[in-house]
Amino acid sequence: MCGIVGYNGKDKNTLRILIDGLKALEYRGYDSAGIAYKNDEINIIKSVGKINELENKIDFNLNTNIGIGHTRWATHGSVNENNSHPHNVGDITIVHNGIIENFNEIKKELTSKGYHFNSTTDTEVACALIDYYYKENKDIKTSLVKFMKKIKGSYALGIMCKDSDTIYSVRKDSPLIIAKNESGNFIASDTIAVSKYADSVMYLDENVIAEITNDKITLFDKDLKEVESNFKSIDKSTNNTDKCGYDHYMLKEIHEQPKVFRDTVSPYLENGIDSLIDKMPDFTKYNRIDIVACGSAYHTGLVGKNLIEEFAQVPVNVEVASEYRYKNNFYDDKTLVIVVSQSGETADTLAALRKAKNDNIDTLAIVNVEGSTMAREADILLKIKAGREIAVATTKAYSAQVAMLSLIALNLASAKGNIDKEEMKVILKDIKELPVKIENTILNSDYKNIAEAIYKNDNIFFIGRGIDYALSMEGSLKLKEISYINSQAYAAGELKHGTISLIEEGTPVIGILTEENLILKTISNIEEVKSRGAITTVITNSDINNNFDYNIKIPKVHKLLQSLLTIIPLQLISYEVAKLRNCNIDQPKNLAKSVTVE
Ligand code: G6P
Repeated sequence: MCGIVGYNGKDKNTLRILIDGLKALEYRGYDSAGIAYKNDEINIIKSVGKINELENKIDFNLNTNIGIGHTRWATHGSVNENNSHPHNVGDITIVHNGIIENFNEIKKELTSKGYHFNSTTDTEVACALIDYYYKENKDIKTSLVKFMKKIKGSYALGIMCKDSDTIYSVRKDSPLIIAKNESGNFIASDTIAVSKYADSVMYLDENVIAEITNDKITLFDKDLKEVESNFKSIDKSTNNTDKCGYDHYMLKEIHEQPKVFRDTVSPYLENGIDSLIDKMPDFTKYNRIDIVACGSAYHTGLVGKNLIEEFAQVPVNVEVASEYRYKNNFYDDKTLVIVVSQSGETADTLAALRKAKNDNIDTLAIVNVEGSTMAREADILLKIKAGREIAVATTKAYSAQVAMLSLIALNLASAKGNIDKEEMKVILKDIKELPVKIENTILNSDYKNIAEAIYKNDNIFFIGRGIDYALSMEGSLKLKEISYINSQAYAAGELKHGTISLIEEGTPVIGILTEENLILKTISNIEEVKSRGAITTVITNSDINNNFDYNIKIPKVHKLLQSLLTIIPLQLISYEVAKLRNCNIDQPKNLAKSVTVE
């Protein structure tokens, strides 16, 4: 989703700094880009499409010390230069991430006061509103206080003013960082945008105005009293954006999963199960768990539900955050709300977290990005160690989230005495051996053959029962995201209640068979589609003798860990299909990595 970068400093190479920043933010997903810089006056350059298009329009010999840049993921109005950022109205130029919800009402008010609008965006209205207050007050900070009072919705803003050489920033429900080095100061949606240049970083709090000159950063609260800043040095090691020889970030990230699993679980298991109990909160006080998330993170919740309910015998309710935040949640003081989010910034998940906190319910966040809003706001934080994930379609963060939910299930099951010593030995042995098994599963060469057989189809189905149904949902989403093939996941027993009418000669159906006591049932369902002409693939940890078209055999491990192997063929089949279809695998159309609007 939209990305912001800005620089104010002594380095005259501002245009390069802005373009480097925007390139580093490409992973978020965008459809147009632009920059504004100042010499004698403010100049704006915009372009539709990739950053390279914008780069081609820029004369990098131009010296300037101050500028802001933006990648836009269209929300209000189609993809064109007029709608791209930066927007300028009167004395004010801004870049914006978020959605101004009351923009129509404000637009009417400002139109009646003589403002004209060139775009259909909410951002241009926000810009005009700041200009209006600025003309009234002649002071930008006072104008921003008024702006924050008036605006409904979410925003992170980089603001330049015709009359000054200062950048201002404010934010609400959208992330923004401020960073610095010896020669200047930066703003950005994410540290990675400036980590090539900056040394230290801080997260801008809501309701705080940042005033950024070329040698000073000053923060003000809503009463314009100065507040303290809190910079931390940037850990450059986590910002490696090299593809390391892989064709795509997605493939590289799939291959990183053995390490990610080890990094995520080993801090909890230094002394076996005892340290797991020590290092995690006491879950036994809860008699209900709500897991709330979006997209793939929601699917990890479904895997977690399966494991926690089976091994810890605690009911788990999994909901998509955009629904949960607006509905009646029958939670009480014995409920734990777990939010799962790679970015820690997804708008709906954050709103669900805040809702639960507001209702005094205990909250726990499973998050990948250190310092993200959810990581800071949840009562308890369990950080996964996936490292930076760049491909928009998640793979390694998904499996790290599943690993953390498996640890929670193991912790709770063991605290409740549901796992005996022998079973615990098996689990700990499997945990130790899992990275190698993940690696071997990645190296299976059959995925390409399956992709060859199915990539031309318009409809592909995934079926499974129990935890395999949860995995089918992620497999189907992965395929849709990166190959643009229409795909559906079904509980295997449900297909015959309607959807089987879509199965015809050559329709691919991928069945997942790891639920030991349900395998025969799912086999019957796959036979049902086979006899109607489907191309059948099974992904299984058991010996299946049926005559299906493709059979991917994965190692069998304890059920608490099995999903971490089952997901690998699903990720790689999607990858190979997308590759055959020449899709933009790392940056699929219309998708954003970090969805910071509702
Ligand atoms: C977007 C991404 C998905 C991700 C979802 C939730 O839709 O494209 O891959 O699963 O957001 O993101 P989060 O950062 O909260 O895990």
